[in-house]
Amino acid sequence: MSLYALSNSSLDLLFSVDLISSEVKAQLHPDLHIRPLASTDYRRGHLDVLSVLTVVTDPGEAAWAAQFNAMRSAASTYYPVVIIDKSSDRIVGMGSVFIERKFLRGLGSVGHIEDIAVDKNQQGKKLGLRIIQALTCISENSGCYKTILNCSDSNIPFYQKCGFQQKENEMAKYAPERPNSPPHL
Ligand SMILES: CC(C)(COP(=O)(O)OP(=O)(O)OC[C@H]1O[C@@H](n2cnc3c(N)ncnc32)[C@H](O)[C@@H]1OP(=O)(O)O)[C@@H](O)C(=O)NCCC(=O)NCCS
Repeated sequence: MSLYALSNSSLDLLFSVDLISSEVKAQLHPDLHIRPLASTDYRRGHLDVLSVLTVVTDPGEAAWAAQFNAMRSAASTYYPVVIIDKSSDRIVGMGSVFIERKFLRGLGSVGHIEDIAVDKNQQGKKLGLRIIQALTCISENSGCYKTILNCSDSNIPFYQKCGFQQKENEMAKYAPERPNSPPHL
């Protein structure tokens, strides 16, 4: 077993590694690895990569770990994945799907894709595409009848290349600003 595999065999993952598509794994460059978020990924640059998406306030490792545990305790709901550069053991890409249970469509479920981010130095190498494919597989294998996401106009062509179609509109109403609350973006 390689040193990389040894160091990763004991990771505390948010969900089972078996839920990540083997086809997507096989299509990744051998220097990269896709897996569920681990409890120690705060130290692998999780927030640094997320900051390509929006302003990220660092809550500190303990609060990050508490959020990780809160997500894991909501069974079969949150599925955050990361792509790791094996040589540096750092995160270079990430995304998440959460499963919403509904009363309509015969008690159907919908997968919501969120927080897709690829490190600036790694963009344009199909990492974003692989993340979306992995998340869509998780959503469909969870029984979701559709997988949806919100994005800026400039990212519409990317999601179209990933097989998504434009549908309807996004609406938002932000809560009033409170002291110590993060800025609205
Ligand atoms: C958007 C983002 C996730 C795309 O990931 P990526 O790894 O760079 O993209 P990929 O290499 O997987 O692109 C797949 C295809 O989409 C195309 N594509 C990617 N971004 C595009 C864009 N903004 N406009 C047009 N085409 C785009 C690529 O050229 C590629 O096309 P090809 O198959 O013809 O070669 C990444 O650039 C990113 O993290 N951006 C900043 C954060 C962000 O905007 N996240 C999305 C929030 S909704």
